[in-house]
Amino acid sequence: MQTVHALDPLRNAVADLHKAGAVALVPTMGALHEGHLTLVREAKAQAKSVVVSIFVNPLQFGANEDLDAYPRQLARDSALLETEGVDLLWAPTVEAMYPAGFASNIAVAGVSEGLCGAARPGHFDGVATVVCKLFNQVMPDVALFGEKDWQQLAVIRRMARDLDLTRPAADAVLGVPTVREADGLAMSSRNAYLSAEERQAAVALPAAMRRAIAAIEGGADVPVTLARLQADILEGGFRSIDYAELRDADDLTPLSARSDRPMRLIVAARIGPARLIDNMPVAPG
Ligand code: PAJ
Repeated sequence: MQTVHALDPLRNAVADLHKAGAVALVPTMGALHEGHLTLVREAKAQAKSVVVSIFVNPLQFGANEDLDAYPRQLARDSALLETEGVDLLWAPTVEAMYPAGFASNIAVAGVSEGLCGAARPGHFDGVATVVCKLFNQVMPDVALFGEKDWQQLAVIRRMARDLDLTRPAADAVLGVPTVREADGLAMSSRNAYLSAEERQAAVALPAAMRRAIAAIEGGADVPVTLARLQADILEGGFRSIDYAELRDADDLTPLSARSDRPMRLIVAARIGPARLIDNMPVAPG
C-alpha cells in the first residue's frame, strides 16, 4: 500500500491506478473500526483498486465540538488498511487540503436541513465541501459511504446529482448497511469516548429504536411512539436527545404518520461525553 500526504504524489499515484482499471474511494476520518473496514471490503468487490482517505476535516466540526479530541491513530489505521489490501492511503495534511486563501463552500439545501443539520450548523457544508474535493482529487468510479450516516449519504448523493458529477456519478455513490456491535450498538469512532458503564447503557438506543419501529409497523400512532422512544432513551441512561424523527428514507421529508414509501427512524442522543447517532429502516405501510 502506498501512502501519500500531498496533492502532487496523490495525482501521480491515482493516475497509475486509473490505468489499471476502475477505482473505488472510501472517505474516512480514521480511527478505523469494522464499519469502515466493511466499506473497504465492499469497495474491493466493486473496483480493481481501492483508495482510502483519512482526514479529520476541520470544516465539518463546530466551534464547541470534538475536533481536537477526535482520535488520530494513523499508524494503526495504516496497518489495518494494509491488511485489507488497500492500494492507496490518501492522508492529506490540513494545509494540503485547505491552503492559505481557501475560500469556497458547497451548501446542499433541503436534505441537509433539520436532524444533524439543525443540531450541527455548518456541518454538512463542511462534509459536502471536503467530499467534493476528495472526489475531484481521486476521480473514483465509485465511492462508498455508510448508511450509519443516513443524512450525510443523502447530502452527498444530492450534491453529485445537482453538480452533474461524473466521477463518481450520483448512482455510483453507494451506501453500505450499518455494522453493529454484538449487542446492537452501531460502531462509531466516538464510542471510544464512553466509559465501560456508559458503553453498556448505550445499547438502550438501538433497543428503544427497534421497539419504536415494531410499534409503528404495527400501526401505532407515530407522535406518541416517538415520545415514548425519547422517554425510553432517557430512562436508558442518555442525558439528552438532539432529535428522534421518522423521515422519508429518500428525500428525508418529516413524517407524522406511517407512509407508503420506505421510511427511516433517525435519532441523535448524548451519553456521557459522546453524541451518538443511529438510524434504521421502517417498512412502508
Ligand atoms: P467517518 O465518521 O470516519 O466515517 C467514514 C465512513 O464510514 C462514512 O461513510 C460512515 O458512514 C461510515 N461508517 C461509520 N460507522 C459505520 C458503521 N458502523 N457501519 C457502516 N459504515 C460506517 O463520515 C465521515 O467520516 C466524514 O463525514 C467523511 C465522509 C469522511 C467526510 O469528512
